[in-house]
Amino acid sequence: MKVFVGTLVHSTGEIFMQVRQAALGVQGEKIIFVEDAAKLNELKEKHNFPVSSIVNLTSSQFLMPGLVDSHVHASQFPNIGLHMDLPLLEWLEKYTFPTERSFSDLKVAQEVYPRVVDRMLRNGTTTASYFATVHLAATKVLAATAAAKGQRALVGKVNMLMNCPENYREESVEESLRETEEFISYTKSLKSPLVQPIVTPRFAITCPENQMRALGDLASKHKCRIQSHLCESKAEIEMVKKLFPEFPSYTHLYHAMGLLTDKAIMAHCVWLDDEELQLLAEKRAGVSHCPNSNLNILSGHCNVKRLLQHDVKVGLGTDCSAGYSPSVLDAMRRALHVSCSVGMEHTKDHVLTPAEAFHLATLGGAQVVSMDDCIGNFVVGKEFDAILVDVEAPDSPLDIYEQASI
Ligand code: GUN
Ligand code: FE
Repeated sequence: MKVFVGTLVHSTGEIFMQVRQAALGVQGEKIIFVEDAAKLNELKEKHNFPVSSIVNLTSSQFLMPGLVDSHVHASQFPNIGLHMDLPLLEWLEKYTFPTERSFSDLKVAQEVYPRVVDRMLRNGTTTASYFATVHLAATKVLAATAAAKGQRALVGKVNMLMNCPENYREESVEESLRETEEFISYTKSLKSPLVQPIVTPRFAITCPENQMRALGDLASKHKCRIQSHLCESKAEIEMVKKLFPEFPSYTHLYHAMGLLTDKAIMAHCVWLDDEELQLLAEKRAGVSHCPNSNLNILSGHCNVKRLLQHDVKVGLGTDCSAGYSPSVLDAMRRALHVSCSVGMEHTKDHVLTPAEAFHLATLGGAQVVSMDDCIGNFVVGKEFDAILVDVEAPDSPLDIYEQASI
């Protein structure tokens, strides 16, 4: 057993950023008690642990839940900080698809993915929902890497068949399903308690109806989470309307395909109309808010308060490489700035507080990736998934978040 005594900072769900002096006991992976620090002697008797089990935090240190990145493209890290001069659809075609295509060479995956996972962990991201590429072999490398390095991860082989380069797409719906199912089996065979597969139709523009339906069924058969992009930019929404005119909206389309479940992570959701918002809330699908990305590729300002007022689950995503920073701390800062812009357009009630940003980065993210019953805050029975922050350490996350390139 280990007992940490000192400052804990977490979201309780009701209190978005609670700071307390506490004693937190961990046995194996699990939190077995969280009590006021003043009760340490009582706890020693009750749980029968020796003084040598106690870890006293210094006055410059605190424990907080590990950061959750609910939307990030591991395969786009080579482009971080580059190519932010075009809006989404042009950006995908000119820069992003060619970079992702290079993962057909397994050596690229073996070179890039370990550095991605290391960089995420250095930034305090203990949980991430990753998009890889369409390549089965390379996506296996990402899953195995996260498992080996001890990062909690959802890993998705990207599914896409149309409106993308001929040399960078799956060959058919059959191949897409076969390889996705093989990836699901492979991930399970790793026997890692931390890494799970996630079904990943890229977005409606690249996925024909029969593929989306089949992937919805596959996710339901294997009880998998699902991730995609939704209502990110106005041009994207127009194109979806043209491709799928018989559906009342982009969100209704995903719903009809079986993709809008309580295990779904929908990135962006900048431009949802009221009916779409209602549907998303009803289905309990989560939203990954990616403010850095939304600014860089000119997608728009997402009104996060509007989502929260409708009881939609919201977490933060770095969305590298449309977002230029792999740090969730950066995502918190951008989320606050974007909410100030939204506040100027609407009222100050639409502005997020720093405590709300902290909640989105931890428990909010855990809810979006459907792991809130095991991580996200310090509650008895949950796993001890935490980071130790020392504000006086020369290499604290406050300093390193923009360091190092891949
Ligand atoms: N929509 C479809 N693919 C992508 C992607 O790779 N990044 C972002 N930001 N949006 C997308
Ligand atoms: Fe994305």
